[in-house]
Amino acid sequence: MQRIVITEGPDRVSEVLIGSGIVGDLPELLPSRSDRQRVAVITQPTVREIAERIAESLQNRGLFGAVVPIPDGEAAKTLATVESAALRLNDLGFSRRDTIVGVGGGAATDLAGFLGATYLRGVECIVVPTTLLGAVDAAVGGKTGVNAGGKNLIGAFAHPTRVVIDVEAVRTIPLDMLRQGTAEALKAGLIGDRELVDLYRRYGIDAPLEEVIERAVRVKADVVSQDFREGGVRAYLNYGHTVGHAVEIAAGVSHGEAVAIGMVAAGVVGERTVGFTRRSEQEQLIASLGLPVRSPSVDGAEIARLMALDKKRDDAGIRFVVLEDFGVPRVVHPDAATVRAALDAIGID
Ligand SMILES: NC(=O)c1ccc[n+]([C@@H]2O[C@H](COP(=O)([O-])OP(=O)(O)OC[C@H]3O[C@@H](n4cnc5c(N)ncnc54)[C@H](O)[C@@H]3O)[C@@H](O)[C@H]2O)c1
Ligand SMILES: [Zn+2]
Repeated sequence: MQRIVITEGPDRVSEVLIGSGIVGDLPELLPSRSDRQRVAVITQPTVREIAERIAESLQNRGLFGAVVPIPDGEAAKTLATVESAALRLNDLGFSRRDTIVGVGGGAATDLAGFLGATYLRGVECIVVPTTLLGAVDAAVGGKTGVNAGGKNLIGAFAHPTRVVIDVEAVRTIPLDMLRQGTAEALKAGLIGDRELVDLYRRYGIDAPLEEVIERAVRVKADVVSQDFREGGVRAYLNYGHTVGHAVEIAAGVSHGEAVAIGMVAAGVVGERTVGFTRRSEQEQLIASLGLPVRSPSVDGAEIARLMALDKKRDDAGIRFVVLEDFGVPRVVHPDAATVRAALDAIGID
């Protein structure tokens, strides 16, 4: 089992455990505490079996373990779900000493994290991500929240005490979801781990899952430990997201696909601003993973408008994360002609 620690200043705030078949050992993987009495396992319908296994193993060890179901996917990320789950915890007699375990994809861990941050002003939260996107991105880094009109409009920075990643639980995701997570895992490699990039070059989408997860989590954990609340290097995690978010909204493609397209655009910006020489190599790699490298037809003016609205903008203009080389990220403020060339390259005119 691998153990990756996330720190804030001198303090250890969170710990990620990665292994195979470890979900049944969850009671042993809870931080040791003598005052904990109850554990609620918040779960999506698709992974209910895993949640029930966890609840059972808790009961076998004399703890009170209850399963609290939430709706599937994005539909769970609402204040209404927070309210109904909180009422359920209250009915179960949950106190501030008790523990929430959130099991499922990024939607479930975002919701469970927010519930953990707000129920009785905060209780211990453990998350068990079961998608690749959840494991390498959503569950790591302490951003929690729900949607309300805007995506993630209401939320909190709150690290789970532990993130428990069972690679066997992630392995069952369908191919399109594997691709979603692969876009973010590749991004992690591109900004911080050349060996992860090499893994994808060698094995394509079938790159060994446990090593992919471990390497991608390490990149995110390192960045977050340096910059918990997003002022500096945490921006590197936005590689591919400046154009990507705009394409996601305007063209309605999935987040992972949009990030893939956005990384192609960022390759052009990098080539023109910091002399990145591996633009076409990066594009071929993205395509070889079955991810798109061109945007569906969308209005260029709409993309420009969305990028200007984006939070990744500061006083100096639109902020782009680019690469000097694989593993060497930088932030630049490209001129309009450079942005134009980047959009051209992904088929937006
Ligand atoms: N907090 C963050 O920093 C952060 C970062 C990235 C994404 N996110 C959030 O994560 C969410 C997207 O993540 P996601 O794609 O994992 O979402 P998701 O939770 O909606 O999962 C996608 C689908 O996979 C199913 N699923 C989960 N585990 C499975 C398994 N083992 N086998 C088969 N199916 C399974 C789910 O039931 C769901 O239908 C979004 O809400 C996004 O905002 C958060
Ligand atoms: Zn993303």
